[in-house]
Amino acid sequence: MKRINQIEPWIGKEEKDAVVEYLESGGWLTEFKKTKELEQMISDYTGSKYSIMMPNGTIALTVALLALGIGKGDEVIVPNYTMIASANSVVMAGAKPILVDIDPFNLCLDLSKVKKAFTKKTKAIMLVTINGRYPDIEKFKSLAKSKKVFLIEDAAQSLGSKCNGKHLGTFGEVGMLSFSMPKIITMGQGGCLLTDNEELYKKILLLKDFGRKSAGVDTHEVMGYNFKFNDLQAVIGIEQMKKLPWRVERKKEIFKKYKSLLVKVKGVQFLETNIKNTAPWFIDILVPEDKKESLIKFLQEKNIGTRPFYPAIHTQNPYKKNKGDYKNSEKISMRGLWLPSSSFLSDEDIIYVCNNIKEFFHENTLHSSKT
Ligand SMILES: Cc1ncc(COP(=O)(O)O)c(C=O)c1O
Repeated sequence: MKRINQIEPWIGKEEKDAVVEYLESGGWLTEFKKTKELEQMISDYTGSKYSIMMPNGTIALTVALLALGIGKGDEVIVPNYTMIASANSVVMAGAKPILVDIDPFNLCLDLSKVKKAFTKKTKAIMLVTINGRYPDIEKFKSLAKSKKVFLIEDAAQSLGSKCNGKHLGTFGEVGMLSFSMPKIITMGQGGCLLTDNEELYKKILLLKDFGRKSAGVDTHEVMGYNFKFNDLQAVIGIEQMKKLPWRVERKKEIFKKYKSLLVKVKGVQFLETNIKNTAPWFIDILVPEDKKESLIKFLQEKNIGTRPFYPAIHTQNPYKKNKGDYKNSEKISMRGLWLPSSSFLSDEDIIYVCNNIKEFFHENTLHSSKT
């Protein structure tokens, strides 16, 4: 029986040929011309004035915080439902993440709760546009402005998603995209910072290259580190960027297909999604809390891979001391499930997955009506 994984490998002939050609050309492997070319492609695609490649998204966020002067004694507002790296990047920068509950409709920070979380130590709001969905970003921008704090966008899951024609990750002082393995396009690992601010851009460049102004000139202006990218991965990234437009469209088609097949199934709930703007990275549904585990198992037996949503951050070991009103993030984590989401899924694969989900809920309904 065919296995349908939640995500699929992505390597194609184009990447393989490009890597071979690059290796045969005697390229320097480290960050150089190919990284620049990739950064230019990302800027052209997102409309960001500056794009800076980093080894991964977590480091990219940490460097963004450091470049903004955020560190020990400072607080950064972070959603309590996100990939844990959003909060961890704040800890890595030496500051304290303040976990705030999410809006249950778009799964992003709840503006009214953010307003209540400000203290004298607050230096930034980290808005995570989770799965390409977004809140009223202008309201977040005005709030940040009025409180004189930075708006940082963790747009790790938002490549290909826009709000009012503007790419996510380009609204705040700085935004981050991630290219880790399961993303819409990938180079295995990789992160990119987006900013229009030239001063910030220059600070980020210093920080990622040992604090020196240019490679090979060993005069160090500030304390810096080695968070450079490498041209070998950039070669793959360039090929992946060429594939981005069709993948964005395919992700949208896949979401629509799932929705059309499952929308009437009792037990399955879709999150509000403006599919014109959002390119869902993962296909997400909400199911009854008490049925989630058995649905995962049922699908597993049919060779269908799924993945439960992230646990709410305050329930994870490193953050257990955090207490607060987290009812939306708790609920969402308990109910959320990611379905097979690869851009390479065929319509037949989606029909097979949906038929099995229908069968599961049908059997469950019969079972509960008998008992
Ligand atoms: C919302 C979010 N933030 C941060 C990250 C971390 O990015 P990376 O895995 O590139 O370090 C991820 C990764 O999936 C993510 O989904």
